[in-house]
Amino acid sequence: MQSLLFTPLKIGDLQIKNRIVMPPMCTYKAKDENGCPRCFHRLHYAARARGGGVGLIIVEATAVEPRGRIASRDLGLWNDEQQEAHARLVKECVKYGAVMAVQLAHAGRKSECDGLIAPSAVKFSESYKTPRQMSVEDIVSVKQAFVQAAIRAERAGYAATEIHAAHGYLISEFLSPGINLRDDEYGGSFENRARFLKEILSEIKAAVKIPVGVRISADSWAKGDWSLEDSVRLAKELELLGAAFIHVSAGGFFERTDSAPAFTPLYQAGYAKAVKQAVSIPVIAVGLITKASEGEALLLGGVCDGVAYGRELLRNPNFAQAAMSELGCAELIENSYKRAFK
Ligand SMILES: Cc1cc2nc3c(=O)[nH]c(=O)nc-3n(C[C@H](O)[C@H](O)[C@H](O)COP(=O)(O)O)c2cc1C
Repeated sequence: MQSLLFTPLKIGDLQIKNRIVMPPMCTYKAKDENGCPRCFHRLHYAARARGGGVGLIIVEATAVEPRGRIASRDLGLWNDEQQEAHARLVKECVKYGAVMAVQLAHAGRKSECDGLIAPSAVKFSESYKTPRQMSVEDIVSVKQAFVQAAIRAERAGYAATEIHAAHGYLISEFLSPGINLRDDEYGGSFENRARFLKEILSEIKAAVKIPVGVRISADSWAKGDWSLEDSVRLAKELELLGAAFIHVSAGGFFERTDSAPAFTPLYQAGYAKAVKQAVSIPVIAVGLITKASEGEALLLGGVCDGVAYGRELLRNPNFAQAAMSELGCAELIENSYKRAFK
């Protein structure tokens, strides 16, 4: 039987050769804070692409403006030099058949850089600075930064982009009633808290042709705060606005949580399943998925459409080839590597 992990995945009009996804993982390797991918990044991502490997690579959190970096050596996409460097990265990886996407991000109150902004002036933890509460002008300018970065992503050759609305960074800070204490149209009700993300998605959609997906944290793991039920509602609304996929992660909102699950294999898969049952666009599952058989079982069980292997792909750039061998698809392994996988 043909393995599901190695059947093509369609995202919008994009055809992806298999369902193995490399999720965004920061490497903090830009030189001198210039935000440009360089030789390291080309080697790092191409290593996962080559040899018949990963179908969809989502390049690490890439800041839409300098104060949106998580740390000073993050990648960025706010100027021409960065756009050209991203174009070189994309060119290197598509040679090997990977579909390249990039995650567009703003760290909000979880930035180690200067000039922190957030929906409200509440710091993440003792070791972070207190952010400045965003004015409506700030909101407009950050939305514009997302749109401009998406345009640059498209110009750089990325086939898709992912809005980072997870892990307690800026967009998810707006979603959380515990972090977003605003009393204007961007705070209070679910509708108001989701407005920032929905406007970013709509404005990006109006500006680019490439598919635009969204990564969410399905649960804040804090009682009374952002929940799976909220995420299911949000996912349906994002689908209506034209989101191309939903990538379902969790957590990251608060330093201390009261209802985090045990971090056991597949611990976030249930969230992906709940979202998948609510939408008809592709859903990507992530979280301690390390084995080919686990990804295969998730696909068979209708939990998700794509399977993200994060740290497993950091440990093992040849994970996709090993998975091909394990699932009886050794013919897909590129010749140079075939003899390594009997
Ligand atoms: C080193 C590292 C960097 C990460 N950077 C990002 C990031 O840039 N954007 C993001 O959404 N998640 C990031 N994550 C989270 C991963 O994408 C993934 O959701 C997480 O590692 C769980 O999946 P795993 O158990 O397969 O590793 C990062 C994780 C690691 C380990």
